[in-house]
Amino acid sequence: MPLQPPTTQSRHRGRTPAPAVAAAASRKAAPRRAAAPGPLLVQQAPLPPVPSTLLIPLAARARGDHYFPWLACGDAVAAELLERLGADVEAYLNDLPTVLNVLWRTRFIRDTAQGFFLMHPGAQGVNLGCGLSHHFQWLDTGANHWLDADLPEVMALRRPLLPAQCPRARLAEVDITQPGWWGRLGLPTRDAAAGEPPPPQPVLVLCEGVLMYLEPAQVEAVLTEFAQCAPAGSRLVLDVLTHRAVGTAARHASVGPTGAEFRWGVARLSDLAAVHPRLELLHEHSVAECYGWAGLALETLWWPWLGAPLYGMVTLGVHDSS
Ligand SMILES: C[S@@+](CC[C@H](N)C(=O)[O-])C[C@H]1O[C@@H](n2cnc3c(N)ncnc32)[C@H](O)[C@@H]1O
Repeated sequence: MPLQPPTTQSRHRGRTPAPAVAAAASRKAAPRRAAAPGPLLVQQAPLPPVPSTLLIPLAARARGDHYFPWLACGDAVAAELLERLGADVEAYLNDLPTVLNVLWRTRFIRDTAQGFFLMHPGAQGVNLGCGLSHHFQWLDTGANHWLDADLPEVMALRRPLLPAQCPRARLAEVDITQPGWWGRLGLPTRDAAAGEPPPPQPVLVLCEGVLMYLEPAQVEAVLTEFAQCAPAGSRLVLDVLTHRAVGTAARHASVGPTGAEFRWGVARLSDLAAVHPRLELLHEHSVAECYGWAGLALETLWWPWLGAPLYGMVTLGVHDSS
């Protein structure tokens, strides 16, 4: 399946953004640009449905600032990558609610991660299912370490485009549905320095736009492995969909055409920390906050049915105790 998105007819296909968002977006309508000529790199490297979704957030970070300047991420790396890939992402930019989701989560991740590295300037960060994202551009403290990891087919695409650019950054292949990924990635473990001071440093784990494509039992196993292995004080930052979204990807303006499916969603946010006794739910945010009082009121109305945000960001922490 090619990575190229199909062309859509309308900029407002799919969910309609709230009036304030839509109005601001239309005021800022970007000039259309032609796709790069010649054979496209992404056409030479067709990806399966789930990996191919990496182009959706890449397009949003590269070109979404124009539509939602108050959430602008200024991702110069994404913009340049998109040029080099020569992908026509116009269809993804037509799906403004998804562009908004990605920019909002990028801001959340950046703020959370910068806060983490302020406390632990020399710690390890890892992006599971990194796709073609490059968060280290914002998170490099000069002393911390960074690992971008994804499935082999994605890393084969990523390596020549985004090689690790400093000795503290590395790339790795991983399938997080295969138990033992924490150890295979060489991440610091809770008992790495047992008996010897100083205690192991906490690890920051990002996992954005990934877990909703896994089966619930696989997500539970990922959370369990994080909880069992990560040193105390570690953080896992992830995005969540309501369980009502499971099985609905065909109706999603950007994900639908890729053929990927939403397999995991959350019925109650408290279920996340219930997976393991070391886990705690530290922060939860709903994208409804971007839509002002109307968005929050609608979500409150739907909450008994949704059980969790339509789309949200969560930070999980691990306790000291076992
Ligand atoms: C929507 S993309 C998100 C990419 C990136 N996190 C971002 O926000 O730009 C989904 C990513 O999850 C990765 N992925 C899916 N299943 C995975 C697995 N079992 N192990 C590792 N990565 C996986 C895909 O290869 C793809 O890169």
